[in-house]
Amino acid sequence: MMIYKSPWEIDLMRKSSRIVAETLEKLVKLIEPGLSTLELDRFAEAYIVRRGGNPAFKGYRGYPYTLCASVNEQVVHAFPSARRLEDGDIVSLDLGVVVDGYYGDAAITVPVGNVSEQARRLIAATQGALSRAIGAVRPGNRLSDISHAVQTAIEAQGFSVVRLFVGHGIGRSLHEEPQIPNFGPPAQGPELKPGLVLAIEPMANAGRPDVMILDDRWTAVTCDRSLSAHFEHTVALTEDGVQVLTGVVRDESPERADH
Ligand code: MF3
Ligand code: CO
Repeated sequence: MMIYKSPWEIDLMRKSSRIVAETLEKLVKLIEPGLSTLELDRFAEAYIVRRGGNPAFKGYRGYPYTLCASVNEQVVHAFPSARRLEDGDIVSLDLGVVVDGYYGDAAITVPVGNVSEQARRLIAATQGALSRAIGAVRPGNRLSDISHAVQTAIEAQGFSVVRLFVGHGIGRSLHEEPQIPNFGPPAQGPELKPGLVLAIEPMANAGRPDVMILDDRWTAVTCDRSLSAHFEHTVALTEDGVQVLTGVVRDESPERADH
């Protein structure tokens, strides 16, 4: 059953989602060769708590950290560790926060120093696929229009879509119905209506789509060890259209508006 949210509930989700967005923005600024992913996790947890939130992943099905920090061929759910980021790496940061019982969830893939042309293109294609997917979140569209938008955008750039993981509804639980595959035909499934809040999360590989889970039972890696990227936003469909709850609100003072 899909749970539709009231405008008041969406406002609550805006709070947790805002903390997710601002924490990720801080983490991105910290990233440089030599920094360990555990240092990123420590920073994220302290910052979230200082902002009045709680980490959503820590303790979820036994996940031991605040952050998922997946490097290069790691797709998602890698543990932060003493591993130091190196020039040329790409790192996917996935973060969830809960405030007053309502969740927000987002992810971003970041280049470390100078990365290959392929890595830059993979990151751009995955981020672009998320934008296209968000564009498909409008009344009258159906759920699989989101899935189809992701697949089309990623494959058009010559990359492959990860099938093992899906996006999801989000609200008073981190994962609610519906599941949102990142591939499929258009115009299938339930119609999108105001009140729906979704975490849309495309994952793309430079090589084959196949992934496997390591012995730690969490870390997903590409079977062919090709690079993988992951972007995610929590978005709400409201009477005024789609709103990206984990998008960072920029200063929109009239002096600075350039349109
Ligand atoms: N964004 C991911 C998801 O929605 C992150 C989950 S990590 C976990 O599944 F630790 F919470 F499982
Ligand atoms: Co998610």
